[in-house]
Amino acid sequence: MMYDTILSRSFSRSDQKKLGYGAIFFCLLILASIFTALKSHLGALPALTLRLTTVDDHKMLLIEEKSASQEQEVITVQKNFTREMEPLCNVMDPRSDYCSITGDVRVQGSSSTVFVAPSEMLTGNDSWTIRPYARKGDETAMGPIRKWSILPSAVARQPIPICTEHHSVPGVIFSTGGYAGNNFHAFTDIIIPLFTTTRHFGGEVKLLVTNKNPRWLQKFRAILENLSKYEIIDIDSAGENIHCFPRVIVGLKHHKEMIIDPSRSPYSISDFRAFLRSAYSLKKENAIKLQDGELERRPRLLIVSRKRSRSFTNLAEITTMAETLGYEVVASELDSNMSRTPVIVNSCDVMMGVHGAGLTNLVFLPENAVLIQILPIGKFEWHAKVCFGDPARHMNIKYMEYNIKEKESSLIQEFPLDHVVFKDPVAYHKHNWNLFKSRYLEKQNVELDVNRFRQTLVKAMELLH
Ligand SMILES: *[C@@H]1O[C@H](CO)[C@@H](O)[C@H](O)[C@H]1NC(C)=O
Ligand SMILES: *[C@@H]1O[C@H](CO)[C@@H](O)[C@H](O)[C@H]1NC(C)=O
Ligand SMILES: *[C@@H]1O[C@H](CO)[C@@H](O)[C@H](O)[C@H]1NC(C)=O
Ligand SMILES: *[C@@H]1O[C@H](CO)[C@@H](O)[C@H](O)[C@H]1NC(C)=O
Repeated sequence: MMYDTILSRSFSRSDQKKLGYGAIFFCLLILASIFTALKSHLGALPALTLRLTTVDDHKMLLIEEKSASQEQEVITVQKNFTREMEPLCNVMDPRSDYCSITGDVRVQGSSSTVFVAPSEMLTGNDSWTIRPYARKGDETAMGPIRKWSILPSAVARQPIPICTEHHSVPGVIFSTGGYAGNNFHAFTDIIIPLFTTTRHFGGEVKLLVTNKNPRWLQKFRAILENLSKYEIIDIDSAGENIHCFPRVIVGLKHHKEMIIDPSRSPYSISDFRAFLRSAYSLKKENAIKLQDGELERRPRLLIVSRKRSRSFTNLAEITTMAETLGYEVVASELDSNMSRTPVIVNSCDVMMGVHGAGLTNLVFLPENAVLIQILPIGKFEWHAKVCFGDPARHMNIKYMEYNIKEKESSLIQEFPLDHVVFKDPVAYHKHNWNLFKSRYLEKQNVELDVNRFRQTLVKAMELLH
């Protein structure tokens, strides 16, 4: 299975040493988790990179603010068509490098080079090398991403290659390597950035894929077909062909995990969700709105069940309890079948599940739906917030969290209540990713205390009024 390959590869590379210095930490996931870059919020992050990330955090935030305003300047200058030297590439963003080149631009797959013909707009001697995947700083993800050179012909000091294929619309080069096989990363590293970068072309844009992953392209076909009216170009296999464009973008703009920053984009995450509803023909725009005292209509509760780890061991009991509260219960292991999963999720009003990549499907929930994230033992608060809590709020989804107690975890069968596994997860795994992953992600199931959890479902029902 694709996920296995990609995950095991990234894990085998994620030895402790790497984790020590790469800005790598992890984010949830299906089989297990991947440690991936970005900021830490004091305290929460399961160890690993705590020392590093708390320091880097502030640095990264500063850089981010600076780069946002720099981008503004570049846009203003471009609008005026001044002849001053202007960078074709913005490499200041902490999460992704991004080039936008207008003019006579020629792409050579065999050498992974973007040649830029001389023009009055282009002065200076700069060239760039970019890896077009939005998880800069995480070498486990970025290492295998193909490098692209952006080479003005004046700098190359050689004649620009002759076009063999002419295109009349812009081309966008992006990678389907990295952590693309994980659903959370597919959305936060590629799909949302691709939407932000290409939506304004209204389909009049060609997608040039590097590190082509055919299964990935197949899985997200509906989204890709709606972003571009044209066949996808496997640019790594273009051989000696020279594809010529009036404009080429290399890399994708990334704002925050699963979030589009409206101050940096003409689109919001609501636009993205509306786009998904259209691409997958999802009918339900708004969650059910219950009237006081209403009994006839039953809100639909989706229980995201997992089979291999972090699964609910008393699903039947949870289902019965939820039904007595008036829910219509749908229990599903959300898989990668995109004819099915978006439709199931969109049909529901409340979605509950244990922290994991399956919750990424929240993007398909209707407006004003409720997400209940269940946190297993292991100090997941920070990941819970960054991966799903904050995104849910931005998406106009009401967000609730339920922290399980020791006796609701299968770990209680192996360890006494006062064991360090419960008392201090960080002291237990000592920043060792493999130990953390195996103990808290892979070898933990959840038996919800239905009496305790009932209150959460009652509250969720109230939120639908
Ligand atoms: C762009 O042009 C407008 C109108 O000519 C001018 O007011 C503005 O100052 C210019 N901006 C820059 C950054 O040159
Ligand atoms: C570019 O480099 C060449 C040779 O090194 C130099 O002669 C030229 O002045 C440079 N141009 C600019 C704009 O820096
Ligand atoms: C997506 O594609 C389908 C069929 O190709 C089309 O009917 C629909 O309008 C498209 N939606 C958007 C938002 O482009
Ligand atoms: C995906 O789900 C649809 C609808 O349930 C089904 O018809 C189709 O066979 C499934 N595809 C795969 C590959 O399982």
